[in-house]
Amino acid sequence: MKKTAILLALAALLLAGCGTSGSNDDSCTSLVEDLLSRMTLEEKIGQTVLYTSDWSVTGPSIRDGYIDDIRAGRCGNIFNAYTAAYTRKLQEVAVNETRLGIPILFGYDVIHGFRTIFPINLGLSASWDIEAIEESARIAGREAAAAGLHWTYSPMCDICVEPRWGRISEGAGEDPYLGSLIAAAMTRGYQGDDLGDENTILACVKHYAAYGAPQAGRDYNTVDMSDRWLREFYLPPYKAAVDAGALSVMASFNELDGVPATANKYLMTDILRGEWGFDGFVVTDYTGITEMICHGNVTDAKDAARAAINAGIDMDMQSAAFSDNLAALIHEGKVSEKTLDEAVRRILTVKAKLGLFEDPYRYCSEERERELTMTPENLAFARRIASESMVLLQNDGVLPLRKGQKIAVIGALAESADDLLGSWRGAGEADKVETIVDAMRDYNGASNIIYARGCDEISDDKSGFQAALSAVSRAEKVVMVIGEDCQWTGEAASRSSINIPGVQSELLERIAATGKPVAVVLLNGRPLDLSAESQMAGAILEAWYPGTMGGQAVTDVLFGEFNPCGKLSVTFPRALGQVPIYHYAKNTGRPYVHPDAKYESRYLDVVNEPLFAFGHGLAYTSFEYSDIELGGSGFSGNGSLSASVTVTNTGEREGTEVVQMYIRDLVGSVTRPVKQLKGFQRVTLAPGQSERVSFTIDASTLSFYRQDMTFGPEAGDFKLFIGGASDNVKEASFNYSL
Ligand code: NOJ
Repeated sequence: MKKTAILLALAALLLAGCGTSGSNDDSCTSLVEDLLSRMTLEEKIGQTVLYTSDWSVTGPSIRDGYIDDIRAGRCGNIFNAYTAAYTRKLQEVAVNETRLGIPILFGYDVIHGFRTIFPINLGLSASWDIEAIEESARIAGREAAAAGLHWTYSPMCDICVEPRWGRISEGAGEDPYLGSLIAAAMTRGYQGDDLGDENTILACVKHYAAYGAPQAGRDYNTVDMSDRWLREFYLPPYKAAVDAGALSVMASFNELDGVPATANKYLMTDILRGEWGFDGFVVTDYTGITEMICHGNVTDAKDAARAAINAGIDMDMQSAAFSDNLAALIHEGKVSEKTLDEAVRRILTVKAKLGLFEDPYRYCSEERERELTMTPENLAFARRIASESMVLLQNDGVLPLRKGQKIAVIGALAESADDLLGSWRGAGEADKVETIVDAMRDYNGASNIIYARGCDEISDDKSGFQAALSAVSRAEKVVMVIGEDCQWTGEAASRSSINIPGVQSELLERIAATGKPVAVVLLNGRPLDLSAESQMAGAILEAWYPGTMGGQAVTDVLFGEFNPCGKLSVTFPRALGQVPIYHYAKNTGRPYVHPDAKYESRYLDVVNEPLFAFGHGLAYTSFEYSDIELGGSGFSGNGSLSASVTVTNTGEREGTEVVQMYIRDLVGSVTRPVKQLKGFQRVTLAPGQSERVSFTIDASTLSFYRQDMTFGPEAGDFKLFIGGASDNVKEASFNYSL
């Protein structure tokens, strides 16, 4: 019997319970301590190393050097390798050919689905459907786990008010309250109640911290903000994911207050572990350690490794700085072996909780992979959540389309399967995706769809305009699918303009001039400046990048098979110059109230209001709100106050409304936002049906970082707003005393 097998058998015997249902923390601890006591320095360092797999035509592949590293115990973790068969092959090397047989942890970017791709995360957040978002993560986790994966680099918890930044598409938008609910839901979805279950995977909270606030919207750029702003608006979603049990965190690329997150002890140790009690492990982002040489806070890779591990980093993604330098740093006394032991302990503990010591191949079953991937249920769910994520920004009645109508479909994006998947599409495959135009043909009959490409989404080629106009002339209505190439969103995809690129708007203008009713379908990953397009199109449906079932879902919404119910989770400006623009802005000393006053906080050339406010979204029905009824004039201490409205569906179709509650603290020891989201509920109402929707306001609703940085409420007068969008609300007042 090989040493490895002996060790594994011993571990299984000794530690039954660790990584199984109802797993027992003590058993994991003794397994890990036993292992640690047997490990050489090199083997310990190996557990802090994470290398990427590559991709060849036939599937994932790995550099020979990395195989040697695995075999020598120099690399304990791999990302970008998947499929049950391939991960088994690599796992066999670790289990059978290394001295201790410690299993590999396999990670991957499962961001909005693994094989079945859901809408991009900004789209998911626009559903405001927390249960559905949790379910999307559960499905993604199950599909990924069946392909041999243990670990996803999600949820992405970066609050963002910067549409130039391409990665705004990967997050939940601008709001910390909504963002926190989503971060926690995704964590629960991935990890379930039991990490050892073969259907669950480890979540990774990223990019900690404040990566979503790069100056000028340029990816990887400097971030700087007050501690108060950081804690109030940026940290809550990361914390919510940690509180929900996430056992790994990824350090962000950016610096904060002059210190790159990768060496930022305040973030990684003081806040994360000290204040939040996080007890999982922290991984860097890709080459985050050696990038600190460019940041300019360390001299070389060795110095960077020292700074990172001493700040609280446990695992080095791809920079090889730990593998090359930790041994020397320990011998020189610049890093204590205790610090390394602690990092290894954290990593091994998570491996144990995943059940890898019990059965390193638990996640490598080709049969499960076949059975659980892209099932009809997963696809049906993807179709529903894609429809739910879409936001009807405006509609003069051109939508819904009627079955049998002759529709001209224009735009290269209408025939793109690939773009529907968005960026970070896991292992999603475009050849499994039906395009928007094909889905419309299937639904409406091929002879009723007249397709013309018109133009693409990037170039200035107008040679297709004539054919598009001719298609329009033969149709009753026009659906124009425009937006951004999906590669223009996501990582390293910042833009200096947030206009619709290329000549798409020019074509829209020409088509609109014909007088035919036009509905625009937008595929994009950031708030865009739609001021021109909103004048030309009768309807605008924001479809984001809706995923594997996006073609069908767009068709469902366009033809009214699904009544749209998404609401913006991020503000759409009317000019880039308004950025950053978000609903929780402060009042300033000179709020803009007089249209002709000069010395107020305003622009000379554009109004202050956005084009489409946070929380905005229409349906094919309408909702009326009663005045707010309060349970009293206020409350005190640990008491509470109820606030309710009656919402009535005044249209002719069943519809779902997201009822939103905002508050304003009129006077604080520090200034407070003029409106801040504090609650919401989704209600589905039949035509004519009314429902009373109630919220409870308590001290936690009113709490914030007071002047002395303690977190809690302050006595005083408050405004309360309830409505269907941040700019469409009923108002009431109440007071609070301590
Ligand atoms: C870099 C990205 O910033 C991060 O989001 C991702 O998880 C890692 N690379 C791994 O692919």
